Amino acid sequence: EKGNYRHFMQKEIFEQPTVVAQTLSSYIRPLEQTVALPQMDFDLSAIDRITIVACGTSFYAGMVAKYWFETFARVPVDIDVASEFRYRDPVLQPGGLALFISQSGETADTLAALRHCKANGQTIAVVVNVPTSSMAREADLLLPTHAGPEIGVASTKAFTCQLAVLAALAAHLALKKGKLSADEEHEIVRHLIEAPAALNAALSHDDDIAAMAHLIAPARDVLYLGRGPDYPLAMEGALKLKEISYIHAEGYASGEMKHGPIALIDESVPVIVLAPSGPLFEKTVSNMHEVMARGGKVVLISDADGIAEAGDGCMATIEMPKVHPLIAPLVYAVPVQLLAYHVAVAKGTDVDQPRNLAKSVTVE
Ligand code: F6R
Repeated sequence: EKGNYRHFMQKEIFEQPTVVAQTLSSYIRPLEQTVALPQMDFDLSAIDRITIVACGTSFYAGMVAKYWFETFARVPVDIDVASEFRYRDPVLQPGGLALFISQSGETADTLAALRHCKANGQTIAVVVNVPTSSMAREADLLLPTHAGPEIGVASTKAFTCQLAVLAALAAHLALKKGKLSADEEHEIVRHLIEAPAALNAALSHDDDIAAMAHLIAPARDVLYLGRGPDYPLAMEGALKLKEISYIHAEGYASGEMKHGPIALIDESVPVIVLAPSGPLFEKTVSNMHEVMARGGKVVLISDADGIAEAGDGCMATIEMPKVHPLIAPLVYAVPVQLLAYHVAVAKGTDVDQPRNLAKSVTVE
């Protein structure tokens, strides 16, 4: 079943161009360059507030989506991990959309949060990979990802497929809210259509990333930095690394470095910087230089322009294709997945079945 791959996780990482394309094909009409969402029996244009709830990697997909809902549709978004959301007595006003994101559709805390929102008058939307799951059955709006079964415990292809669905949903909501012109919709769809090819381009750096695994494998701690939509990607990168290689890793918003974590920096702490060129690039690079000035060993993940501008003095660089900011989070997921994968392989851990973890967390 693994075919030519050594692990399910590796296979699933490499399936991403195909399954993202498969997922997108249900949410866009490529010829018309429009988004196409399933029929809804409620008025999406009346939604004035979104509450996103999820766990782990699915939560990070939600954090990226918060940027999209707010920038495109100008709808305020509240987001929380399910285990916190459940117990904090959240304020849920009528007219709100509660959005749950889950690969399995069975995560106990997320499911309990869904039921709480339902009982409190929220419209329930679910982005889920298992169409027969409990969450899928209880949704008012079911938005399936078509990633296919995900076997590796560390989530990879489900994440990029979640992002694809969430981008389409954000564009659709923006249209309904009158915040997006037809031309802008066409442009968004064109960028989404480019995602599978960009994912392939990112995957073509697999060998380079494998070759640098030995730089990270001996570390005790690794930091990941990003800004804007790349901040959740930094946390996702850290989560992947800790799950499968057992190296302690943290993702931080780049601008938070000087508020504490920079005290950790010395030559033994690799720092992975996620910085596509664009409006936030200079700011992140200045945080990166602060790290370098303290002896930090930086791996810069950027595009050719970003690496040309800021690659000097880095321990290593990983070149991503130059893509529109909308699809950057999908593309930058690949190098952080591959880095975690190759570091785990270098360390000889059980990549597909990491210790202490279960694929579906059905207990609280
Ligand atoms: C990370 C990972 C977990 C899950 C989390 C939520 O690689 O696999 O953090 O993302 O347990 O699971 P779902 O998406 O099934 O609700």
